[in-house]
Amino acid sequence: MKNIVVIGAGTMGNGIAHTFAQNGFKVELVDVSEEALQKGLKTIAANLDRIVAKGNLTEDQKAETLGNISSFTSLENCSKNTDLIVEAATENLDLKLKIFKQMDDFAPENCILATNTSSISITKIAAATSRPEKVIGMHFMNPVPVMKLVEIIKGYSTSKETFDQTFAMSKTLGKVPVEVNDYPGFVANRILMPMINEAIETLYNGVAGVEEIDTVMKLGMAHPMGPLQLADFIGLDVCLAIMNVMYDGFKNPKYAPNPLLVNMVMAGKKGVKSGEGFYDYS
Ligand code: CAA
Repeated sequence: MKNIVVIGAGTMGNGIAHTFAQNGFKVELVDVSEEALQKGLKTIAANLDRIVAKGNLTEDQKAETLGNISSFTSLENCSKNTDLIVEAATENLDLKLKIFKQMDDFAPENCILATNTSSISITKIAAATSRPEKVIGMHFMNPVPVMKLVEIIKGYSTSKETFDQTFAMSKTLGKVPVEVNDYPGFVANRILMPMINEAIETLYNGVAGVEEIDTVMKLGMAHPMGPLQLADFIGLDVCLAIMNVMYDGFKNPKYAPNPLLVNMVMAGKKGVKSGEGFYDYS
């Protein structure tokens, strides 16, 4: 694989584009507006600068990485020799189904269609295409250039060939791929989100304050961030959406989102991206 299309220039999309480009892939980055693309490219340049500042990348390698990325406001304008398309659009089922239909129409026959979804069923997304055997989940973690894990999620119809190619290719990115089956929340979010939800429940029940809860988990369990800070970093709307997918999927009350999480999202307090969540970022 050499030529990659990444759909979505937001937090995950620009991180994925950055990672492929830094590892020598030619990346075509697609988003709906020039503004979104420029914002994504600016973030990639800034993140490359911090790697250069640490002495882990030269200015020439930075220029080469940026030179590997071209940007487009429409998938139809990308080149037709794509080996892999990674969709990293907003976490919305209808939008993803629409994008996958476009990807299926556009991509050459042997192209793998991957989604970075954090919880939506790969099997459901694959069913919107004429090539469900070529559809797979590639769930990167934020911040993508730093985090080693990629969950490689096999939908019901994903072929062994598609899985093997995607798994092997993830290693060439310097990542550690992990094989996962397609059930709500996969592995990462099935374990992470109930922990975050429980931290919110602990706050809601008045057991301890925001900083106290985060300090317990940081210093007591050696987590790099406390669960409430991590929730702000992920986005409270994303946390709520993932809890709802697991609640609907398993019909088990242990996945019910805490009412405080629901209220905060309804009030527009989505964490870092909205300027306020459990902490103030304004
Ligand atoms: N791009 C490139 N490099 C970056 C970066 C970025 N966006 N952000 C941080 N870095 C680099 C820094 O340059 C630094 O590099 P060195 O180790 O070479 O010095 C390193 O990462 C650590 O950064 P900092 O010293 O600035 O800060 P830190 O020690 O606080 O680490 C962190 C930052 C890596 C984000 C750390 O806080 C952390 O691990 N947080 C938890 C992240 C996490 O849990 N992510 C998963 C979220 S869940 C998810 O993504 C899935 C989902 O579906 C919801």
